[in-house]
Amino acid sequence: MIKIAPSILSADFGRMNEEIKEIEDCADLLHVDVMDGHFVPNLTIGPVVVRAIKTKLPVDVHLMISDPVKYAKEFSPYCSMISFHAELFENNPSALRASILAIRKLGVKVGLVLNPDKDLPILLPVLDMTDFILIMSVYAGFGGQKFIPEVLQKIRDLRSKYGYEKGIEIDGGINKKTIGRAVEAGANIIVAGSAIFGQKDRKKAIEELRG
Ligand code: DX5
Ligand code: ZN
Repeated sequence: MIKIAPSILSADFGRMNEEIKEIEDCADLLHVDVMDGHFVPNLTIGPVVVRAIKTKLPVDVHLMISDPVKYAKEFSPYCSMISFHAELFENNPSALRASILAIRKLGVKVGLVLNPDKDLPILLPVLDMTDFILIMSVYAGFGGQKFIPEVLQKIRDLRSKYGYEKGIEIDGGINKKTIGRAVEAGANIIVAGSAIFGQKDRKKAIEELRG
């Protein structure tokens, strides 16, 4: 069974909780994109906004920030999953390991993210320590970008070559045309921003993604 995680980046933040309410009964998670204007060239929301989210859905915080360990504790009271970009520690597996442990201590599930140009060897030394992996199918930073199908090989390899059985999330450019390939490759947590919040009928959009 796949999980659908609408990304509120494409929602109307002026009516954030009403927007969330519309998808609450048919989505599985709520994906929240945190950007610092440094790790990615865009700025979004911080912990005060995440704190204001009212939902019964598990909140999945995707940190696109340069210092995830420093800020994770500000988000952890309001979410159940936190992911950060493994390439921040590309040449430093011991710092990557320490970062996973520090964030897990906050009582959340910890995921590692890879941008499209970053490869699995960064993750391999710590694969066992992760609760899930997030494979970006666009470059982190903005909603509404075009799906990059080449990243699917990383998902296939995680499943078949490395025997990864936990959650594999995919994020970026997912819509009713691209979701099939992502699921076929082995992704089971599906983030979608514009394909859900960019549509008039969000429930129908989620049903169509489920296929
Ligand atoms: C991009 C974010 C995504 C974004 C996806 O950096 O990580 O979560 O909201 O948006 P769509 O689904 O429109 O590509
Ligand atoms: Zn995201």
